[in-house]
Amino acid sequence: MAARMGTDTTRTLTAGNGARTDAKAMKPAAAPRKPGTSAGGWIVPAKIAVFVAALYPLARIVLFGFTDRLGANPIEFITRSTGLWTLVFICITLAVTPLRKLTGWNALLRFRRMLGLYAFFYGALHFTTYFWFDKWFDLAEIVKDIGKRPFITVGFAAFVLLIPLAVTSPKAMVRKLGRRWQTLHRAIYATAALAILHFWWMKAGKHDLILPKIYGAIVIALLGWRVAVWARDRVRQRARE
Ligand code: HEM
Repeated sequence: MAARMGTDTTRTLTAGNGARTDAKAMKPAAAPRKPGTSAGGWIVPAKIAVFVAALYPLARIVLFGFTDRLGANPIEFITRSTGLWTLVFICITLAVTPLRKLTGWNALLRFRRMLGLYAFFYGALHFTTYFWFDKWFDLAEIVKDIGKRPFITVGFAAFVLLIPLAVTSPKAMVRKLGRRWQTLHRAIYATAALAILHFWWMKAGKHDLILPKIYGAIVIALLGWRVAVWARDRVRQRARE
C-alpha cells in the first residue's frame, strides 16, 4: 500500500543489467533482479524480522492486558496506543522513498508495502476500539460523533483514505491499475496530513501539543522533500525543452 513515487520500481527492477563486451558478456543476459536481491538471501530473514518487530505495539497491549497494566482507563490506553502507532507506521512508510533516494539502498523498497499494511492494521485496530469499546456499535452515535467533533471527522477521513490503499496493495492490483495505482497511492499524503490534524485537534483541547508538533514536523519534512524533488525535476525538464 505504500506510496510509490514516479518510476521507482521500474527503474530499480531493471538496474544492473547493462551490456558487456568481454567474454563473460557472451553468456545470456541475467534476468532483471528485484531490488535488494543482489545483496544475497538476507531479504527474507530481514522481512520476517521487520514483520515480527512491527507486532510489538500489539504484543505490548496484549501483555499489559493480561498483566493488568492498561491503567485506570484501558479503552483510552488502547485507543491512544493504536492511534499513535498508526501515525508512526504512516511516517515510516513515507520515509522509505526519501531514504532510498538519499542512501541508494534500493532494498528498502521491498519493505514498503508491509509497513504500509501495518499502518492500516493499527488504524483498523484504532477504529475498532473506538466503535466497539467506546461506542458499542451504536451507528447513530458514531455518525453523530463524526459530524460533531472535528478531530473525529478528520481521523475518520484519514482512515477511510487508507482503505483503498490497503485493498490495492497486492502485486496483482499494482499490475492491473498501472499508472493509476501510483496516482491512487498518493492519497497517503492526504492521510498523513489529516492524521496530524486529528492528533493536533485532539491534543489542543488538552493544551499538550509537544507530540503533535514533533510528528507534524516529521510529516512536513517527508512531504516537503517530495515537493522539493518534484520542483527540481520540473526545473530540469524545462531547461532541457
Ligand atoms: C489514519 C487514521 C488515524 C490516525 C493516524 C489516528 C491517530 C491518532 C493519534 C495519534 C491519537 C492520539 C494518541 C495519543 O494520545 O498519544 C488518536 C486518538 C484518538 N483517535 Fe485517532 N487516528 C486515526 C483515525 C481515527 C478514527 C477513524 C477515529 C474514530 C472515528 C479515531 C478516534 C480517536 C479517538 C477517540 C482518540 C482518543 C481521544 C482521547 O483519548 O481523548 N481516530 N488518534
